[in-house]
Amino acid sequence: MKEQISIDEFDNKKFKKHIGDIDESNRKAVVTHFLHNYHNGVKKHYEKEANKYIKEIVEYKNEEEKLNILYDDAEQYLLFEVEKVPFPTPKDYSFKFIDLFAGIGGFRLALQNLGGKCVFTSEWDKFAQTTYKANFGETPFGDITKESTKKYIPEEFDVLCGGFPCQPFSHAGLKKGFEDTRGTLFFDVVDIINRRKEIGKPVKVVFLENVKGLKNHDKGNTLKTIIETLNELGYEVATEILNSKNFGIPQNRERIFIVGWLKEKNKTFRFPFGIDSEDAVIYEKESLVNIKSTAVGDILIKRPDVKYTISDKLFAGHIRRRKEHKEKGNGFGFSSVNEKTQYTSTISARYYKDGSEILIEQTDANPRKLTPREAGNLQGYPENYVIPVSDNQAYKQFGNSVSVPVIQAVFNEIKKQLL
Ligand SMILES: C[S@@+](CC[C@H](N)C(=O)[O-])C[C@H]1O[C@@H](n2cnc3c(N)ncnc32)[C@H](O)[C@@H]1O
Repeated sequence: MKEQISIDEFDNKKFKKHIGDIDESNRKAVVTHFLHNYHNGVKKHYEKEANKYIKEIVEYKNEEEKLNILYDDAEQYLLFEVEKVPFPTPKDYSFKFIDLFAGIGGFRLALQNLGGKCVFTSEWDKFAQTTYKANFGETPFGDITKESTKKYIPEEFDVLCGGFPCQPFSHAGLKKGFEDTRGTLFFDVVDIINRRKEIGKPVKVVFLENVKGLKNHDKGNTLKTIIETLNELGYEVATEILNSKNFGIPQNRERIFIVGWLKEKNKTFRFPFGIDSEDAVIYEKESLVNIKSTAVGDILIKRPDVKYTISDKLFAGHIRRRKEHKEKGNGFGFSSVNEKTQYTSTISARYYKDGSEILIEQTDANPRKLTPREAGNLQGYPENYVIPVSDNQAYKQFGNSVSVPVIQAVFNEIKKQLL
């Protein structure tokens, strides 16, 4: 059976031609979301359409490839395929969430670790979808701005999370909040929240992450509009800038975290600060026990391939640029660290270009780039997280990602204080 049917065939060009589907982009997402929720109520939400697609592919294969596959067998095999992944949905769960702008599932890993079940995912990048599927068994739905994607979001879930791209809002000044955000990806986030509110099933907690620059973006107008809009929809909001280096990760990565909860709960929210903050000692003593002080050596692998050592030409270029920067008083052009250094600079989605933001010093050789696995370690991804894409794609994906332990520490507080 293995050779006869697989989830990836739902992308197969010949099959697409055969069924002539008009809205084909989300087909694999429908089937995997259905199979992934096979043992719980969420399955129903995707069932009708998924059955139709599975039947179509069974018919197609039987006819075109002269096979004799039964629907039930096909379903069982596909089910096995989505469940044998490294990070399947926990069988017992205490809350449901949706994962927007999901990237490679940094939020999902953290929330699953805390007993959450993901009921819907959206991420339109094909390569990120491949990584997501290899680890969680689900192919994310595509463009979240489209109704043809939004219509698949189940009515009931407790938490909405996502790291949406930061965009300026209009300055029209005539409208306020919600309407001001029209045409941006944040508008789609609030649209989803608003629809749940209107049907009397409000989202309990909104958990967003963004670049630190959001705070002063457009002279503070962007963050102000985000907060006002969430207030308008009935949420209290707390924001905080946290640094990954304080959460057991040897990386200097500052990000803003936005947490919104229903006003009617009449609660406040306190962020965790991690190990380097005095505030932290006052109320997080207990949870800090698990966070260890780290150094770069903790995320390095034993015998990295020589291909990660940078060439003489590239190294000479880095040195030249460093000199030029220094002369202009611009700081350093590249940043090299060794295993004893406490933390690296921030890994970004551009790391694949020349790696200059984080180079590892080597004795008797030019410095080297992080390997993709090390880039994953630097964002707190576990060892068994599968990297099924090229090195360049992997660097982009980890550079774009959240630091998993930070998300987990914040969500742990959300669970304790707000859910
Ligand atoms: C900063 S990354 C988020 C990474 C994620 N938090 C993680 O841990 O990997 C933002 C993601 O939003 C995705 N994205 C942007 N616009 C989108 C859209 N209209 N629909 C779906 N995904 C979108 C991008 O492809 C990108 O992967």
